[in-house]
Amino acid sequence: MKYVFANWKMYLDVHESVSLATAISSMPTDKEKVQIALFPGVLPFVSVQQILGTTHIALGAQDVHPERTGAYTSKTSADIFAKAGASYALVGHSERRYLFGDTDEIIADKLAACVKAGIVPVLCVGETLDMRKAGNHEACVFEQIKKGLSQVDIEDTNFIIAYEPIWAISQGGVGKGCDPQEAAQMHTFIKKEMAHATKNEVRVLYGGSVRAENVLSYVSQDTIDGVLLGHASTNASSLQEIINTVSEI
Ligand code: PGA
Repeated sequence: MKYVFANWKMYLDVHESVSLATAISSMPTDKEKVQIALFPGVLPFVSVQQILGTTHIALGAQDVHPERTGAYTSKTSADIFAKAGASYALVGHSERRYLFGDTDEIIADKLAACVKAGIVPVLCVGETLDMRKAGNHEACVFEQIKKGLSQVDIEDTNFIIAYEPIWAISQGGVGKGCDPQEAAQMHTFIKKEMAHATKNEVRVLYGGSVRAENVLSYVSQDTIDGVLLGHASTNASSLQEIINTVSEI
């Protein structure tokens, strides 16, 4: 089973989100082979949920607030997302870490809040280009994983890790992904480290400039369990092509 997770970031308005969700939900896909999840913006979230309804396409939140409820203007909690149909939530996406100041501590709280609400957190980790050049990429990723999971019992928690080297994430669709072999090496490292912490198999997705043209080079690697897409998932034909490619593996 491979995963295709579509993070629509702030690319799509309500109308665009609804029409993309409609196009994807009408595709024949084999749920034994591919788990698709859409991560719309907060505003289109409920409309997308109504379209996905009883299909096997899951819904996810792009971010959550760690508190369950309260006076937190503009924020949405994991609990509220869960009640609105979210099965997954991204936690610690690099845009949250670097543009909005999410620290490892906040990320750990958000991850724990997801677990409490019954949502599977997708913990996003990844190094900067400087860290990779200095050979610190594995240490950085390991630290982010350790801190991100520090508030939960790893053995009892259903979670996914997304390896997204920051330098590989596209800006508005323009970006150069990580070499698939290098990505696979990092996935092997993560899985090896996680094997010391849990006997459960840890799923690791790759994210960063994945497109229809290169998706096969990532998902054909054994240690890459799927992809977390950004820009390429905001267009129906590109997302459909990616889903079809992944389904055929
Ligand atoms: P991208 O984004 O596919 O546009 O590079 C990936 C991500 O940030 O999840």
